Amino acid sequence: LNYQVPRTRKEIFETLVKGLQRLEYRGYDSTTTDINGNTICLIKKTGKVKALDEELYKKDTLDLDEKLNTHFGLAHTRWATHGEPSALNSHPHRSDKDNEFVVIHNGIITNYKELKKYLINKGYEFESETDTEVIPKLIKYVYDNRENDSITFSTLVERVIQQLEGAFALVFKSRHYPGEAVSTRRGSPLLIGVRSEHELSTEHIPVQYNIQEKNSHNRPDCSNAINSVGNGKAVEYYFASDASAIIEHTNKVLYLEDDDVAVVTKGELSIHRVNRQAGEDPVRAIQTLQMELQQIMKGNFDAFMQKEIFEQPESVVNTMRGRICFDSNKVVLGGLKDHLKEIKRCRRLIMIGCGTSFHAAVATRQILEELTELPVMVELASDFLDRNTPVFRDDVSFFISQSGETADTLMALRYCKNRGALTVGITNTVGSTICRETDCGVHINAGPEIGVASTKAYTSQFVALIMFGLMMSEDRLSLQERRLEIIKGLNVLPELIKQVLSLDLKIKAIANELYQQRSLLVMGRGFNYATCLEGALKIKEITYMHSEGILAGELKHGPLALIDTQMPVIMVIMRDACYVKCQNALQQVTARSMLCSDVIPLQLLSFHLAVLRGYDVTNAHKSHSVQ
Ligand code: G6P
Repeated sequence: LNYQVPRTRKEIFETLVKGLQRLEYRGYDSTTTDINGNTICLIKKTGKVKALDEELYKKDTLDLDEKLNTHFGLAHTRWATHGEPSALNSHPHRSDKDNEFVVIHNGIITNYKELKKYLINKGYEFESETDTEVIPKLIKYVYDNRENDSITFSTLVERVIQQLEGAFALVFKSRHYPGEAVSTRRGSPLLIGVRSEHELSTEHIPVQYNIQEKNSHNRPDCSNAINSVGNGKAVEYYFASDASAIIEHTNKVLYLEDDDVAVVTKGELSIHRVNRQAGEDPVRAIQTLQMELQQIMKGNFDAFMQKEIFEQPESVVNTMRGRICFDSNKVVLGGLKDHLKEIKRCRRLIMIGCGTSFHAAVATRQILEELTELPVMVELASDFLDRNTPVFRDDVSFFISQSGETADTLMALRYCKNRGALTVGITNTVGSTICRETDCGVHINAGPEIGVASTKAYTSQFVALIMFGLMMSEDRLSLQERRLEIIKGLNVLPELIKQVLSLDLKIKAIANELYQQRSLLVMGRGFNYATCLEGALKIKEITYMHSEGILAGELKHGPLALIDTQMPVIMVIMRDACYVKCQNALQQVTARSMLCSDVIPLQLLSFHLAVLRGYDVTNAHKSHSVQ
């Protein structure tokens, strides 16, 4: 924020807290605010944004009614990927105890370990477990080693981001550069809201401007264009990852692109590129958002479930990011590597979960058996407990859970722990109970899942478990060819998911044919059996239509009795070892069929069926209660 009209500290707090509340749907575990007149004051609180709000008013050292002219506030809500939710791990992260530089970050820095080692060697002390903290330390390092005192804040930022790998949207603030803030992005979204004196005017004139050239002494003066909106002069700037955080204040936004650096100095905004190529002449436009808040939160989608289905090309990349090297074919899961020896010596692997998470175990069992050469049991948590299943000290037990809180899975975890087995968590929620209570684990990093039916968590759980198999088989000579084939497959997975998603309209047309049916069978075998179970679960869960996943090999042992000319059957077939057998089953059941090849078409189908059947998927969000 940068107001040219005076605002009270209270008003700024309110703006920040409201903005964070609008982002709560993206997941949260801790929040922070940093309000700055001349000094930088950090206020950190874990938990919901409301807790931060209450904390702010407890600070009697801050005068809430004080009016501030040029000033700045920074707030962040964190979906933990590295380090549990705690005040120390929450943002802003700082360069040192005097808060010389503070930074907030959305994304993942994949080379943080190397950077951290380097900076620790140089004498910088770290206080959190996060990947983010290398950034403020690094900018201070660059500042401490500056060649002269006239170095600009944005030059420092440019030098820092040239050392970063991974994804980030960043906002920097420094005591050395009062009245100034710098922001940049690569791979994570960042937009700037521009509010003018005439914000209430209904006339919206889009403003185009050229980006200034890096390090040019002769910068083109385009600040007038950026700093005016319509007929009014810009008075406030809002940097945010998502328009929902700022839409209450302005609907004029410009989206930064990768390697854009935006600087606000004394109330004026300027933007330039890092490493601008010769001849490149990009233009950014201030756009007027016409969307409602709910719409913005869901992007162009009608429902979170639909949005999350379409996020899968990116969410699977986030699961693999920094863990698979496609050049060297090496796979390293940091959370497991210290336990790898012990896991390799075990008697068997037991994979435990509920619902969709159980299906991720079924889906990967065969590949895990192949790559680990160990017996793999897959267990529904409730049934595992009901049976008082024998568990031994040399077993390794995996607990798969998107939320990390599901009661049956948690009880199964405690049961295995009491019997001395090594416990491994596969969760999407850092700091969750399963995460805390397991000996080690993998965070799937799919990002928060809001839709009530699990979609992107499933594909990310699948990828995480496959990566575990790849890590286990790294030194098995006889498995190298197979490993390479799987790694190649993972490399093209995002692209293949995009291709499947492009079939959405066709799938919608099929949903149109099917939505009035009472029942829907999903059949396959081999690797695809889990897809059938998961597809049928999605259909049941959100369309209230009877649906069953059938193992094609079992068809003749009962399920065939269900099939007549009226019964719709979806068959999941791939050109794999089961192809011919599946073709045989197909001939037995149909005249006409829908064929599909993985779980995503079934996610889409269930979504369209639910809409057509009149169910309100739009407002189906996960509740926070533990089941
Ligand atoms: C609930 C949901 C399912 C989900 C299951 C496991 O029953 O309705 O969709 O798959 O819990 O959730 P978890 O968070 O442990 O993966």
